[in-house]
This record gives sequence, structure tokens and C-alpha cells, in this order.
Amino acid sequence: MAKEQRLYACQSCGWKTQRWVGRCGGCGEWNTVVEETWSPSQRSAPQCTEPPIPLAAIETQREERITTGLEEFDRVLGGGMVPGSAVLIGGPPGIGKSTLMLQVCNRLALLGHKPLYITGEESLLQIKLRAKRLRIEGKDLLLGAETNLETVQGHLNDLKPTLLVVDSIQMIYKEGLESAPGTLSQVRECANELIHLVKDMDCVLFLLGHVTKEGLLAGPKVLEHMADTVLYFEGESASGGAPFRVLRAVKNRFGPTNELAIFEMREDGLHGVDDPSSLFLSRNRSNVAGTATVACMEGTRSLLLEIQSLVTRSNYNVPERKVSGVDYNRVSMLIAVLDRRLGLKLRDQDVFVNVVGGVRVEEPAADLGIALGIASSLTDRPIPSDMVLLGEVGLTGEVRGVGQMEARLKEVGRLGFKRAIVPQDNAKDMIPQKGLETIRVGHLKEAVKILSSKQ
Ligand code: TYD
Ligand code: MG
Repeated sequence: MAKEQRLYACQSCGWKTQRWVGRCGGCGEWNTVVEETWSPSQRSAPQCTEPPIPLAAIETQREERITTGLEEFDRVLGGGMVPGSAVLIGGPPGIGKSTLMLQVCNRLALLGHKPLYITGEESLLQIKLRAKRLRIEGKDLLLGAETNLETVQGHLNDLKPTLLVVDSIQMIYKEGLESAPGTLSQVRECANELIHLVKDMDCVLFLLGHVTKEGLLAGPKVLEHMADTVLYFEGESASGGAPFRVLRAVKNRFGPTNELAIFEMREDGLHGVDDPSSLFLSRNRSNVAGTATVACMEGTRSLLLEIQSLVTRSNYNVPERKVSGVDYNRVSMLIAVLDRRLGLKLRDQDVFVNVVGGVRVEEPAADLGIALGIASSLTDRPIPSDMVLLGEVGLTGEVRGVGQMEARLKEVGRLGFKRAIVPQDNAKDMIPQKGLETIRVGHLKEAVKILSSKQ
């Protein structure tokens, strides 16, 4: 029998080493390396049961999807669940993972499917109390309080459900592995076995996993490449903040990535938001310096968001830059461009940038909005409240074109905006929208100039 080895692995990126270190040699994070036990004998050589066949010989069945009727949820999955697929749902504790999945199970049960919900964290009574709050009776919703992988596999084989929810994967353990539940090897091994089992049974698997704010700890990151679809909850923290919960598809083998589902957490559970743009914009938009509206593409949907900037004189030698919902490095770059190319004195100013509603903006198309918002706050000249800003900003201050202009402008027009500053580059693919004046710019300077003239 092969000798057992001591191994240490990073909980964040999976990097392995034979001695403990404080800092991961893979991702550079501190205190993420934990001990794992690995015995080579457990790894049986992969067995080839069927010889390879030509690609052309593989028959495709029509892709059938199971829909829940919860529109936002179906959309973020790319139009419903694909039988045999594995979906990972990550997010900080208390954001609404269990609530969402209980609602999904209920919908499926009502539609005649067979959902099975395995809870490893909460007792059956706790789930019952949640169900009461959600007004779920659950006659055909099967619940099990389990943490042992073998027992879960047994239930799966006996009941043959359409949907299996494992809440959470960090609580499940496989006997025989020495490491504790929640460690990298347990999480990976349990997920791996479940994923393979559901594939053969055409059952949809949902693995719920906790992620800390930094996206660290407890494994979900290493499961990303094993799952077919990865959804992360983002937005304000579960305690306080806006009641909105954003579920983003960061990976989807069966649909577009970056698709968003937007929910509102109410007293009786999560409700899909029909018109997210109007929700994220302040109710009474008045001309306030530093506030800019941008049109972002999130998956297949265009979303208008409000970005607020505040520039104040710094009390320190090194001015502060604090951002929320936007990329810190992107904002630093834009501040440098404003300072260097436009001569705006930001070197001794603190800059704060925040996206209203707790959504993350990843797109460079929001650059112009961020840059103009900062310029507006610094000069105390408001951006007109009926104006939307669109465009990527380069290092020389040039404004570059953005994709899917038509979809963006449609949303802008629909919400009653009157003016849009857009990149010159997009002149060709601009379809005029009724009541919307488009102003083309090639450089950030021109956009700032428009700001100071148009009020
Ligand atoms: P939960 O689904 O338990 O989060 P997770 O599984 O991600 O840890 O959500 C818990 C939070 O949601 C908790 O703060 C209470 C709140 N909540 C509501 O506001 N309304 C509801 O109907 C439910 C069930 C929960
Ligand atoms: Mg939970």
C-alpha cells in the first residue's frame, strides 16, 4: 500500500505544498494554507469503460430545460435548468441562498417535479419555520437533514429526484477522508462524487457554498471549474443595506455569463424585480454634483445605474481613494487621466466612488460616467439629471466605443432620459431613439467641456 503523505493545501486556489507555510505560494494570500491528508491508494486509476467514438457519431437530444416560473432565476441560468448539470451557488452567509433554493424547490414541487433538499446546516424544524415565513406548505417537497455523503447518495439512488439541493457543500463529509468537513479535500471530493452521480441520473444538482467578502475560505472557489454553472450572490451585506440581492452567473456552460437576476428580499422571501433600472436610480433625481448615470450591459440585459462620486480636500499627505461597486484600479487610472491629461488637481483630494444599490459594475463602458462624476464633484458642476454617459476611457483620455449600443440606448430612451454622451467611435451603429439627443465625443476633454456649458 502506498505511503500516506502529509499535504498542505491553499483553501483559496488549491496550491499544494508538503510543509506548512503562512502565505500561499500560488495566490499569495495569508493564512489560507491548511493541512490535508492524501493517501495515493484512494486514487484509483481512471477506468475507460467505453472506447472513444467519432464526434459525428454522438447523437444530440433536444436540449430540454426545466423552468421554475421564477423569471429572474430561470434567466440567470440561461433559460432554465439543464438536467444532469451541476450549479454552484456561492455567497456570504445570510444573503438568501437557502431562501432562494427553498422557493425554487417549492415551485418545482408544485409543477410536478421531484425536488430533494438536503440540509446540513439547519435542522428540519428551522427549515419548516423558514417555509412558514415563505408560505410554503411543501406537500411534495422532500427534506432531509444529512451530512454524510454516502447517505445523501443513498437518498439520491432511492428517490431519483429531479433536483437535489445540498445546503451547504461545506457541511457534507465523506467517511474515510481524514480531513474535517469544509476542508478543501472534503469539499472537492464530495462535490466531485455528487456531480458524477447526478450526471448519470439526469438530476439537477445545486451546491450551496459560503464565501467570505474576499471570496476566500471554505472551498467554493475550487469548485468553480467542476460545476457547469456558477452563480454568486452579490450586493449589500445581508445585515442592513439595500434589500436587493443580485445573483450573477460568473460561469455558465449553458448560457451567457454575467447574466444577472435581481431580487428584493421581503418579509415573505425573494421576489424578482421587474424593472431593475428604475429601482437602482434615485427616485427624485435632481442635479447634484458628482452623480452620473451610466448604461451597463449585464448579460443580455441593459441596466441603468447611478454612480456617485465625492471629492473632498484631503487631510493627509496621501489622499484616500475609497470605492464600492467599481474596480479600485480602474478608478485610480481614471483619476490619473483626469489629473494628467485634463489638468484637474486631484492629487490632494480624497475621492470616494459608490454604485447605488450595491451592484458591481465590471464594464469599462462605465468609465466615462465615473470620470465625469469625479470631475463634476471636484468642480461642483452637476451633470444634468436627464443625461446618461457611455464610453470607455483610455490612458490618453480618448473615449472609446462600447458594444451593444442599441440595447443600451433603448433602455436610456425607455426611462425618459433626454441626452446621452456617447463615443464618437459608435457613430456608425447608432440608431436614433425618439426624444433622445446623442452627443458624440472623442476625448474626455470634450465631455468635460459639455458639462460646463450644458446645464
Ligand atoms: P438565508 O436564506 O438563510 O441566507 P443564507 O442561506 O445565504 O445564509 O437568508 C437569511 C436572511 O434573509 C435573514 O437575514 C432573514 C432574511 N429573510 C427575509 O428577510 N425574508 C424572508 O422571507 C426570509 C426567509 C429570510
Ligand atoms: Mg443557508
